[in-house]
Amino acid sequence: MAKTKSKTKAENQTQMVKIYIMGSMYEVPSSLTIMKAIEYAGFKLTRGSGCRAGFCGACATVYRKEGDFRIYTALACQTQVEEGMYLTQMPFVPANKAKYDIDTLDPIASTILRYYPEVARCLSCNACSRVCPQEIQVMDYVQHCLHGEIDKAAAVSFDCVQCGLCAIRCPAEIPQYHVATLVRRLHGKYNMKPPETLEKRVREIEDGVFEEGFKELMSLPEDKLRHKYYHERDFVDQKKA
Ligand code: FES
Repeated sequence: MAKTKSKTKAENQTQMVKIYIMGSMYEVPSSLTIMKAIEYAGFKLTRGSGCRAGFCGACATVYRKEGDFRIYTALACQTQVEEGMYLTQMPFVPANKAKYDIDTLDPIASTILRYYPEVARCLSCNACSRVCPQEIQVMDYVQHCLHGEIDKAAAVSFDCVQCGLCAIRCPAEIPQYHVATLVRRLHGKYNMKPPETLEKRVREIEDGVFEEGFKELMSLPEDKLRHKYYHERDFVDQKKA
């Protein structure tokens, strides 16, 4: 994160709070999210920011509050600032990510253990669940994996946004968020009925139904794509269509 400009004056009626960003104090409007407050303070986020809507998990944040011994975690784009927050943005969390061919696997516990043997080292300390900004019961889905309950593991981990905070806190060094991806893939591939509409659309794509349209889109200059085909497009009300 690079500092690019000094902060602007807040309007008189705006309630301000003091927060600390990488050790320096800033006054920011209390209505802002952590992400917006960091930008308000003059920093440009070149990492740790993606969708800004709570989906991509890029904005994992760790903070303490004045006079409080706990370490808190949050998604910066979804969490409002509070007086006395000491903030730092997390870098990307490197973690072991297995490579596999999902078409050749079985949806059973030994598949998980083959690619992520560290799952067997789970201490059941629940540090992963306590740190999850999505309030997912991470330890529970790790235990479901160990028992081969792929459907339960997939359901419990469904809201994971891959921020990686669980893996940072785990004393057994389990990359829970990558394990969760594997169980959801196994569940989707082997336990769920393929949706008919998706199969139909894939068949249409393979049969070349959209080939002409794709070619036209690929040949267009960016400004035409942006304006004519995006900003000025007709919005179809799916319920009425
Ligand atoms: S920026 Fe994507 S979850 Fe916050």
